[in-house]
Amino acid sequence: MKLSYCGYVAASILLLSAGAYAADNGEAVYNQACAGCHTMMAPKTGDKAAWAPLIKKGTDALTQSVIKGKGMMPPKGGHSELTDAQIKAAVEFMEDKSK
Ligand code: HEC
Repeated sequence: MKLSYCGYVAASILLLSAGAYAADNGEAVYNQACAGCHTMMAPKTGDKAAWAPLIKKGTDALTQSVIKGKGMMPPKGGHSELTDAQIKAAVEFMEDKSK
């Protein structure tokens, strides 16, 4: 059960890395660059209480935090190949999921 789930995740990551960055698709960028941490670490995507104050700071401020890095989060989540627009798209995706 666990193994086949891992296989599925690995396969989706492979599929995503094939063309995900072509479009500024926030969900694709998120799945590839951000989900690894933000499904288990605060602020968790979907945790409305954690995100309410962040959403108040505004998308641009959050995007800047991600570009520069914050606390345990490396700059651009460790994906320096991402453009600022792709980071912003991923932030918007996380906000939408956490409203
Ligand atoms: C290595 C794990 C890791 C990765 C990868 C990661 N994050 Fe984070 N992220 C964190 C942690 C930990 C925090 C909390 C930082 C703090 O407040 O000290 C955080 C905080 C944030 C915040 C809140 C920033 C703020 O101003 O409080 C946003 C937005 C965010 N991440 C978005 C993203 C996006 C978008 C990506 C993918 C491009 C990403 N993260 C990738 C670990 C990660």
